[in-house]
Amino acid sequence: MVLVGAAVGVALALVAVLIPWLPPADSAEALKIDDVYWFVTIICIAIFALVAGVSLYAVWKFRAAPDDTDDGAPIHGHTGLEVVWTAVPAALVTAITIYSGIVLNQIDTVPKDHRVVEVTGQQFAWSFHYPDSNVTSGVLALPIGQTTELKLQAKDVIHSFWVPEWRMKEDAVPGITTNVLVTPTKEGTFTVICTELCGLGHALMRAQAFVFSEADYEKWVSDEKAKAAATGSAAGKTLFTQQCGSCHTLADAGTQGEVGPDLDKVLAGKDADFVHESIVNPNAEIAPGYQPDVMPGTFGDSLTDAQLQSLVEYLVKTAGKS
Ligand code: CUA
Repeated sequence: MVLVGAAVGVALALVAVLIPWLPPADSAEALKIDDVYWFVTIICIAIFALVAGVSLYAVWKFRAAPDDTDDGAPIHGHTGLEVVWTAVPAALVTAITIYSGIVLNQIDTVPKDHRVVEVTGQQFAWSFHYPDSNVTSGVLALPIGQTTELKLQAKDVIHSFWVPEWRMKEDAVPGITTNVLVTPTKEGTFTVICTELCGLGHALMRAQAFVFSEADYEKWVSDEKAKAAATGSAAGKTLFTQQCGSCHTLADAGTQGEVGPDLDKVLAGKDADFVHESIVNPNAEIAPGYQPDVMPGTFGDSLTDAQLQSLVEYLVKTAGKS
């Protein structure tokens, strides 16, 4: 009977591992996490199949005949069985604990030489600061094959950083700095997803993540430096797309956010003072049909004076056109 159950268990476990259930694993950490995941899952499938197989077999083999009104044999316990079904799960749980502990230690240990990117979450956008090059961007860029420590902070409520292909997921919590390590193993474009319900724009709180070769990464950094040094309305447009577009629609910038007012409508005919005030003190004037305290009041601090000026210049110019 146990043999039947064991055979079913092995068959089901094979089906489970032969189907690609998980997204691609594109970081060194992801491969290790997947190994733990499958270790636990295969044990679960095998035990479930064993128990279900034995139960179904017993129901079929030992069912009572229609005219059988006996009480059944007077059985009281089976010490051998009880020892086995206590000892085996205890051994499995211990094995899972030890294996998980080893992997957790491996993926959480900050190596001596490593890069750092400071990640800030706020309703409803991510921003990334690269202390090595003093660059700030709405995009996460990492060189392939190097371990980077992401230091996470939140300005308003709890957000959570997640790139499915890297598996690593960590909350960004106001008032403290949390961290997560990632060692990307594949070049390409990925999506940073906020995976903690953080308000109206939660579902839109996404950012692009690029994994570059070393040379492409250096080029990206110098391009970003050039962009940061640029002023005027072109720089303002870039800033708008990165920091405002997920909540506001603006045809000129090609953004379609719906959390805040449609700027093609509310900016028509407005001057620089109004635009400036609306950015640094969003509650000063609320567009009809919208709630106060949805837009963060932190842009006055988080943007440099030059950035704020570029943004205002761009928006006033765009408002004049519409
Ligand atoms: Cu930020 Cu959800």
